[in-house]
Amino acid sequence: MAENNTEQPADETPAAGQETPELAKATTPTAPAPEPAEEPAETTETTETTEPAAPQAPQAPQAPQTPQTPAAPASTGPLSQKAVDAVRAGYTFEGTTLDIGALVNGDPLADVQVRIPLGMLNRHGLIAGATGTGKTKTLQGLAEQIAANGVPVFAADIKGDLSGLAVAGTPSDKLTARTQGIGQDWHPVATPTEFFSLGGVGQGVPLRATVEGFGPTLLARVLDLNETQESSLGLVFHHAKQNDLPLITLDDLRTLLAWLTGDEGKADLKGIGGLSPQTAGVILREIVNFAGQGADVFFGQPAVEVTDFLRTSTAPGPDGATTEFGVVSMLEVPGVQDRPAVFSTFLMYLLTELFRALPEVGDQDKPKLVFFFDEAHLLFKGASKNFVETITQTVRLIRSKGVGIFFVTQTPKDVPGDVLGQLGSRIQHALRAHTPDDAKALKATVSTYPTSEYDLGEVLTQLGTGEAIVTVINDKGAPTPVAWTRVRAPQGSMNPMPADAMAQAIAASPLQAKYGAPAQTEGAAAKLQGRIDAASQAAADAAAAKQADADAKAADRAERERQRDEAARERESRSTSRSGSRTSKEHGVADVIDDVVKSRTFQTVVREVIRGLFKKK
Ligand SMILES: Nc1ncnc2c1ncn2[C@@H]1O[C@H](COP(=O)(O)OP(=O)(O)O)[C@@H](O)[C@H]1O
Ligand SMILES: [Mg+2]
Repeated sequence: MAENNTEQPADETPAAGQETPELAKATTPTAPAPEPAEEPAETTETTETTEPAAPQAPQAPQAPQTPQTPAAPASTGPLSQKAVDAVRAGYTFEGTTLDIGALVNGDPLADVQVRIPLGMLNRHGLIAGATGTGKTKTLQGLAEQIAANGVPVFAADIKGDLSGLAVAGTPSDKLTARTQGIGQDWHPVATPTEFFSLGGVGQGVPLRATVEGFGPTLLARVLDLNETQESSLGLVFHHAKQNDLPLITLDDLRTLLAWLTGDEGKADLKGIGGLSPQTAGVILREIVNFAGQGADVFFGQPAVEVTDFLRTSTAPGPDGATTEFGVVSMLEVPGVQDRPAVFSTFLMYLLTELFRALPEVGDQDKPKLVFFFDEAHLLFKGASKNFVETITQTVRLIRSKGVGIFFVTQTPKDVPGDVLGQLGSRIQHALRAHTPDDAKALKATVSTYPTSEYDLGEVLTQLGTGEAIVTVINDKGAPTPVAWTRVRAPQGSMNPMPADAMAQAIAASPLQAKYGAPAQTEGAAAKLQGRIDAASQAAADAAAAKQADADAKAADRAERERQRDEAARERESRSTSRSGSRTSKEHGVADVIDDVVKSRTFQTVVREVIRGLFKKK
């Protein structure tokens, strides 16, 4: 198995290591404890988990409540025959469906398939579960099937463990055992995938947005500005537009605010009206902070056109036949844990842009696009109330544009209640119950499910890797019966795409020509710098002229004094020597000089010479 995680001992072990501290230090006060030591159990990764009787099997961390008995026969599962039949009927639909997996009732029941209608994906969904329980693989499997149905997918690949989707999976005996047990006709499939990065950080075609395109509202929400500040920011954007000061990068906005709060821009600031220097200063500080979090990189041109996420591409499909796939747009965002604001802002921007770009379509046979937020707790981490409101509203309204959104995160508690309430499909992997906090989360999760024969509090801690408690919205808009499901295996690779293959794919992307290199457009910063330079030149000129004038006056005074002295001397000499030693010619020259010196023209020339000297510095 060439795919085994060589370069990235990836999935779980290190993931857990990263996730826990990051959760702990950040906003999610609820999550510090859940994931500490469990991951070792998940070394199953290397063997592409198949364990047929997973609930009882090597789930060391979940073990406390788990009866360590061998797999029970089907009849001893938690559901009565009646309930099993209800599940079978409840997940049988007329239109196209995605197959999630097979019901587990003690043993997996290959003839009881758990599905989700393709047309109901715009009712959104949640994939939750502790680290290493199978969330990302579930996401991958769904994304593959969505794409194979011709529907484009957008997904953020935060740990790099989703990229395997672009590579055909490797068959193995264990995999076959798993897939046969749940009635999955498994074939390796490589899904057409386009890799993107935020402003070129990490691997992928760089995605950028202009500050202008972002708009004051979203920016204000991200900066957590209050209402006054938000409307002030709106005025600044308006002023920029009126005065041909394009806001492209954060630096453009920063420079404009600095200008407005500085001496040069005083008049402009007054002209804007309703923007106090204090407020402008506060906004400026917030922007500097935001840039400091690394937001700089993705503001620029050319700005992404979200319609580029709506492409299709033909490739060999799951059945080997040429198939029109929806292209999977995968945003590679390594290290995003350090910059949740940047990440969440950009994803929100994409969503709002999608909302803007797409026409109203109502419910359709299949969605226009399905958007997956893996590690969605990062989206909400430290998010302001306003921002959460924006998300809530966008999630609610984007449904009618034919966009489905899946949030993927550890516990439903990571998702604000208003958003959670709009997520129709629920695929809940195992939850831990180690700490009181875990127990609370578990209880909260249980309470959100429709009633069933399951003791969900118990079952949710017993699920095996790659198993989940499922309920979806059926084609009539009602929730389906709760079903303990063994999830299908992805048909792409379960390991990250090899870096060189990814680099090749990125280099060959048809979107490189459009987005590869940043465009150099003169924004507000450059324009204002021009004005600042001109203003300071004018100020220097004015100062020089003033100085020259003063010098000239001083020279005038000195000259008049000299003339007085000379006249006095002359009078004296006339009176002492009446014989008249001076010739008339001499007298004539002196008079001429005297006249010249006193003349206006001469004084002007002197002034100009002095000024010229001064100017040369
Ligand atoms: N549906 C599945 N089919 C086969 N193996 C799975 C499945 N789901 C999970 N696994 C195994 O469990 C490991 C952890 O799953 P993953 O989706 O990365 O967990 P999570 O995202 O919850 O941390 C995978 O690497 C894989 O080996
Ligand atoms: Mg994951």
